[in-house]
Amino acid sequence: MAQIKRVFQVDGQPFFPVGGQARNSSGYNQAEAETAFQALRLIHGNTLEIPVYWEQVEPEEGRFDWSAVDTLLALARGYDVRLVLLWFGAWKNGDMDYAPAWVKTNPARFRRVLAPTGRPVWNLSSHCRATFEADRAAFCALCQRLREVDRNGRVIALQIENEPGILGCDRDYGPEAQAQFEAPVPAELVAKIKAAGAGRVWELWQAAGAKAAGNWAELFGWAGGEAMTAWSIATYIDGLAEAGKGILDIPMYVNVWLGEGSWALAGETYPSGGAVAKMLDIYKWCAPHIDLIAPDIYIGDSKGYEAMCAAYARPDNPLFVPESAPGNSNAWNLFKAAADHDAIGYAFFAIEHVIAPDGSVRSEAQMIVDSLRCLAAAAPLLLRYQGTGRVHAVAQEENLAGQRLDLGRYWGLVEFSQPGGPRVHRDWRHLPSPTPEATRGRGLVIQAGEHEFYLVGGHYRLTLRPKLPPEPSRDPVESRDYFITRLAHYVTVDEGHLDEAGRFVIDRERNGDEVDYGVWVEPDCGVVRAVMCE
Ligand code: DGJ
Repeated sequence: MAQIKRVFQVDGQPFFPVGGQARNSSGYNQAEAETAFQALRLIHGNTLEIPVYWEQVEPEEGRFDWSAVDTLLALARGYDVRLVLLWFGAWKNGDMDYAPAWVKTNPARFRRVLAPTGRPVWNLSSHCRATFEADRAAFCALCQRLREVDRNGRVIALQIENEPGILGCDRDYGPEAQAQFEAPVPAELVAKIKAAGAGRVWELWQAAGAKAAGNWAELFGWAGGEAMTAWSIATYIDGLAEAGKGILDIPMYVNVWLGEGSWALAGETYPSGGAVAKMLDIYKWCAPHIDLIAPDIYIGDSKGYEAMCAAYARPDNPLFVPESAPGNSNAWNLFKAAADHDAIGYAFFAIEHVIAPDGSVRSEAQMIVDSLRCLAAAAPLLLRYQGTGRVHAVAQEENLAGQRLDLGRYWGLVEFSQPGGPRVHRDWRHLPSPTPEATRGRGLVIQAGEHEFYLVGGHYRLTLRPKLPPEPSRDPVESRDYFITRLAHYVTVDEGHLDEAGRFVIDRERNGDEVDYGVWVEPDCGVVRAVMCE
């Protein structure tokens, strides 16, 4: 059984945040913030991620205005949900858009990154002490405010900066940074690399000749600029986390603009110095006060999506997805994150988009809304069974007819509706059946006991067969007729939900026609429990 680091807690208990992130400008005013809370209610989510802007809370140096933060807290209490606040400080998406005017207009004091030509880049240099101190002071003031006014812990975590790094250059070429680049790489970092003996940073060091000491170019070759920037920004952010935690000890994390897509050029196609997969170790070593590094996964294809989950889900870094694309592909990918990579929380970006003008769910957003709703319903089960090998993702890739699951004493067969083929049988509440082309089967199958299964999701059915000898010589996915004659029988099949203590509460019973074609789920059925009879 894998130990999962449950970073998020509510009232001292592990908590699984499910929700969305508000659009960038929704935190400035109450009306738009409220729209985000309403959208969260539509997906049955429990956590809203929303920015706090340095430029708004500290319009003049040392003068703070907490009205927007207080409004968010009041809304969170009113809607009875939790918050993850995003500190839009020195960095936002690899630039400096959210620094206050008094920072932006004083480059002599708050120095910019300089390109090799000497041209200033729209990015605050992580090598500038004045910027670090100002950013840290403002972040600490936020922690202090939360400590004073958020006594019941609505805020469950803080994201420090947003997709930090430099867009426009691989590193800062200003005098301080240049001196740093030519100086020896800190001995503590070199010691960590040597001790690692594996991993992407270690491989870069190996490729550059595995020198015992040297400057950044000598130790990392072509990746020297990016490695130095990752070290510098990780150290800077860790300084904010260390000071902030001294005031308010809640989880703090860093999110990442992933670098793996497109041409993968640091500073051009992604911000250099962010915690991209090849620099992740540097962040883990140099930012010990940061609880986790979280990938913003906008990749839709399942292979790319899962590769990113795999890169960030490590024993020292549980997977948390703070942003993902609101498109349909993530409506099934998110179940893989939860089942195959033990994600400890999940959100998608631009939550306001799900609301139609009449307050209902926009039809284009229905799939992702349904998926989030199912994930939220399963959260208590995930807290209990992730890491045990008993949580299985159901994800209908294009043209996939079924999935076979190995469920202890049972074989499970997940079947999807197929264009031109049979549709998954449901009941009178779910008529007419949507066309198979219009949706995808997806969800989770969780085995709680030898004979006890919980299902969430939609557009699939699960049939179970005991693993009794003799085994069929053919794969059950192919030998459907034989399979049907040997189906297991149910003690009960019920729809329900998990209460606060994590106990299953029955809301509706099923039998007869409603179970003859397997155990099926729809997002509005909540959690379906099937107890099998030996
Ligand atoms: C990722 C950023 O972190 C968000 O703030 C937002 O800008 C989205 N990209 C837009 O897709």
